[in-house]
Amino acid sequence: MLLSIESSCDDSSIALTEIETLRLVHHAKISQEAEHARYGGVVPELASRLHAVDLPRLLEGIRSHFCDISAVAVTNEPGLAVTLNEGVMMAKSFAIFQKLPLVPVHHLKGHIWSLFIEKPTRLPLLVILISGGHTMILRVEGLEAMEILATSMDDSVGESYDKVAKMMGLGYPGGPIVEALAREGDPERFDLPVPLRNSPLIAFSLSGLKNAVRLVVEKLGGAGAMSEQDRRDLAASFQKAIIAHLVQKSRKLFAAESIPDVALVGGASANLAIRGAFERLCGEFGKRLHTAPLEFCADNAAMIGRYGIDALAAGYGIDPSQIRVRPNRKLQSGMKL
Ligand code: KG4
Ligand code: ZN
Repeated sequence: MLLSIESSCDDSSIALTEIETLRLVHHAKISQEAEHARYGGVVPELASRLHAVDLPRLLEGIRSHFCDISAVAVTNEPGLAVTLNEGVMMAKSFAIFQKLPLVPVHHLKGHIWSLFIEKPTRLPLLVILISGGHTMILRVEGLEAMEILATSMDDSVGESYDKVAKMMGLGYPGGPIVEALAREGDPERFDLPVPLRNSPLIAFSLSGLKNAVRLVVEKLGGAGAMSEQDRRDLAASFQKAIIAHLVQKSRKLFAAESIPDVALVGGASANLAIRGAFERLCGEFGKRLHTAPLEFCADNAAMIGRYGIDALAAGYGIDPSQIRVRPNRKLQSGMKL
């Protein structure tokens, strides 16, 4: 069995996956959302202290399986340095103590492998990754063949939902809250700009849209003066603009890439309106859309374990003392992930 550990942001999670059958034997997660909600976003120092308490608690829960574990996988990049450290330290100690190989896992590759939990790996894929930290499109052909085709120049999709929620005085994380409000709102009420609409660039940019939302909030007298209908209409108008942006830029890449299978992954891929828009776009191009089950869209250790199994088989297990945390390597279009 492979033990996997995830602590790149505000979720402590561990999983056990059977290496031969890919069966997910155990998966547990302690989310810190409630603790960070009062600050309207993740506070790294607080997150790190909570991981230090929660990760050992989760490990204690699988004590009866300790002797069945033959390898360990852990997220070592990208993420918050102080939270990645907590997971890496626990994984490293466990692997050294039990004399096991350790597999370092790139968090974004983990999100892509969320598609393969309890399933065989199926590549190539054109992947749209939308999370709290990243927005990108990738051509994924293998463990070492993942090319970044487009990235966000500023905020990510998840982050912009979080910021819009915060501006309207709502909770954290903002994604599910804004999506629920948008369902009841009028997307035509506020005329928000679709980012980079007239630019030939195949890239994403969300800070201008965020500022446009800020101006509307100010014009309405601030978050406190907004009615429930104002919030619904603004959420719907914002979501309409962000979807138009994602679809416009993706359409250009869909036309250029012959890969017939497309996947939408990352925390914001739980958004049903975004899923629906990509279903329609794929339909237009005769491509098939793949998504992970909703429970595995957000950060979790099951996806880290699933990637860990393929990486272990490819010879990427290392001596645990050699693992390094790499919090924020810059990721740009044209680079390999
Ligand atoms: O992948 P994830 O769990 O963490 C990172 O790797 O960043 O993504 C978390 C992000 C948060 O910003 C959250 O607001 C967003 O995903 N999110 C959503 C939805 N559910 C979560 N964004 C839009 N619509 C949703 N339904
Ligand atoms: Zn993530």
